[in-house]
This record gives sequence, C-alpha cells and structure tokens, in this order.
Amino acid sequence: MKALILSGGKGTRLRPITHTSAKQLVPVANKPILFFAIEAIRDAGIRDIGIIVGDTAAEIEAAVGDGSAFGVKTTYIRQDEPLGLAHAVKIAEDFLRGDTFVMYLGDNFIKDGIGPLVHEFQAERPNSQILLARVPNPSSFGVAEIVGGKVVGLEEKPAQPKSDYALVGVYMFDPTIFEAVNAIRPSPRGELEITDAIQWLIDQGKDVRSHVIKGWWKDTGKLEDMLEANRVALLSFDRHVAGSVDPTSRVIGEVVVEEGATVVNSELRGPLIIGAGTEIRDSYVGPFTSVSRGCAIIGSEIEFSIVLENSRIEHLGHRVEGSLIGRNARLVQGETRPRAFRFMVGDNSEIQVPG
Ligand code: TTP
Repeated sequence: MKALILSGGKGTRLRPITHTSAKQLVPVANKPILFFAIEAIRDAGIRDIGIIVGDTAAEIEAAVGDGSAFGVKTTYIRQDEPLGLAHAVKIAEDFLRGDTFVMYLGDNFIKDGIGPLVHEFQAERPNSQILLARVPNPSSFGVAEIVGGKVVGLEEKPAQPKSDYALVGVYMFDPTIFEAVNAIRPSPRGELEITDAIQWLIDQGKDVRSHVIKGWWKDTGKLEDMLEANRVALLSFDRHVAGSVDPTSRVIGEVVVEEGATVVNSELRGPLIIGAGTEIRDSYVGPFTSVSRGCAIIGSEIEFSIVLENSRIEHLGHRVEGSLIGRNARLVQGETRPRAFRFMVGDNSEIQVPG
C-alpha cells in the first residue's frame, strides 16, 4: 500500500502567512502540520509516500527531503495548478501504479493516527473507505448522506447539508478510483472534486465503506483551526525544561523549554513550548502557546497563540492572544512621538486592537 499526501493548493484562508510559505509547513506545537501526516502514515506501516506539490514545492522538498529523516521514501509529484483533490489523484496515477493507497490532506490533523483504519481497509478490501466526523458546521465541508448506515451520497460544501457527517481529509482507495477521476467533469468552481469521484464509485455499485472517527480531527485551513490543533497537540506534552530558566521565573504545568532557550524573570503557564534559542524576559507566556526558535518576548504577555521563527514581541501594553505571528515579525512599542500605532502590515493581514 502507498500513500499520497496533498501539499499543493493555494491556502487563501491563511493569508498573509501563505503569501510567503506553504500552509502545510505552519507549525503546530513547533512541528510543521505536514510532519504529523507523514508520521501517522509511517506509523500505519506505509513507507512509500507521494507528495503532491504546487507553487511551494521547493520549500516542502527542503523541509521533507527524501523522507529518510522520517523512515519513509518520498516522491514529489508536481501539480501546476490546484485543480482539485481528484485532479491530484489523477496526476499521481503513474506513482500509484495499480496499488491501493491512502490519500491524506497535508493540512489535516488527526490526533490518534490512522493505523487501525488502514488495517481495517487492508483486511476488508473495499474499493474505498472514507472517514467521517460529526461537525457543528457541515456546510463548510464535504458532507455524506447516510441511509441505513451506508453512504448513498456526497456533496461538497452543501448549502443545505443532508447530515452533520463531514468528510475527514483521509481516504483509502483501490485502483478503481482512477476510472472515477477520469470519468468526472470539473465542478462549477472549476475543480475535479473527490466527492464527485466517490459519488461515481457509489453510483457504479462499488463498495464504498465509511468509518466514523471519534477522536479529535481538524482541517487546519483557517487561523482558529490552527490554534485549536496547536492546543490539542500541546495537551499531550510532558514537562521538559532543557533551556535555562532563572530562579526569579515561575514554571507551572506542562512546559517545554528547548535547548538554548532562556527564560528570565517570567511566568510560564503550560501547556506551552518555547523553541531553541528563544528569549523570554520580564514576560508572561500562558497556556496553549507555541513560540518557535530564535524569537524574543520581552516585557509582554501572550497566550493561546503561535509565533513563528525569529519574531520579536516587546513591551506591548496589552496581552496578545488568539494570534498567529509570522516569521521575522516585530511587534514592539515605539519610542518616538506622536504616540500612535505604526504598522507595516502584509496583504490580507488582520489586526485587532483592544477597545
Ligand atoms: P483545501 O484546503 O481545500 O484548499 P487550499 O489549500 O487551496 O486552501 P484555501 O481554500 O484556503 O485556498 O486543500 C486541502 C489540501 O489539499 C491542502 O493541503 C492543499 C491540498 N490541495 C492540493 O494539493 N491540490 C489541489 O488541487 C487542492 C484543491 C488542494
């Protein structure tokens, strides 16, 4: 069995972060979301992974390499334009060459892995197995219509959903999926939809099974989903303080301070992670915060946030929360008059100030 990870796409909902980098490389608990997918596939016993890449191919290839760091073998498959999930399957036909495979969306986060689901598929050999999860807002997802425990229909982002069972971004297929992706036509939004391909399988009387997952799952396309995935990932952390924490600082709960990080006169209230080489001084870092490597948080307060590499937060008068701060960003208090907000903000950024 092989795996196909989809790591192309545009990532419009995570701009401006995705103007400069791939959304699948945004870290959750200081580890790119894509790495969790690779590890879940490896832990299910699959070693041969094709990765669909688009405009951010170079960055993804630099981060993942030949896969040996993860104990897998990677093959990159270039998708010139994000023409849909079923289009990605279509262009991977040579790589998948008659094998069964698991398709994993590179921005999805499934806390409990996929081992038992893959083994069930291998043992029972249906044409396809899809995963479903109950969600409060089905219209934002692919939605399954279920009759008598069987999936009879699938719709992509329906205005009037027929159930609250959303399609999770992990699918298992045998080679009949290639007949389906070659038979369907682009949807009104111009994409070859995987929901249409699976619907085709159902309509042809193929064996499409579904499995409702109970564990925690998130499609991390948006800011609040990234923060939520970060929160859940940090919940499984144990305390590990390898960096230096001075005696005037207080460390409470599951706190990870990586090697080379320094914490001076600050309060750290876990679960949280502070990356290598980061400096925390005269500050408060609260629960569900991941600060990447090479950052500085000075005289400030932050919680429930993700801060990417080499960013600085200095002497902000208000606590930062629910935020995703990109790489090399500076959020500092100015010294010049007049006292004013001074911004240099990227396209599609969002700033909220306290009222
Ligand atoms: P989406 O989140 O559906 O699409 P997107 O990445 O373009 O994001 P946005 O809606 O914010 O613009 O994609 C799910 C995953 O599949 C994601 O990891 C990107 C990947 N993908 C491809 O590799 N090729 C494609 O043609 C599409 C549509 C998505």
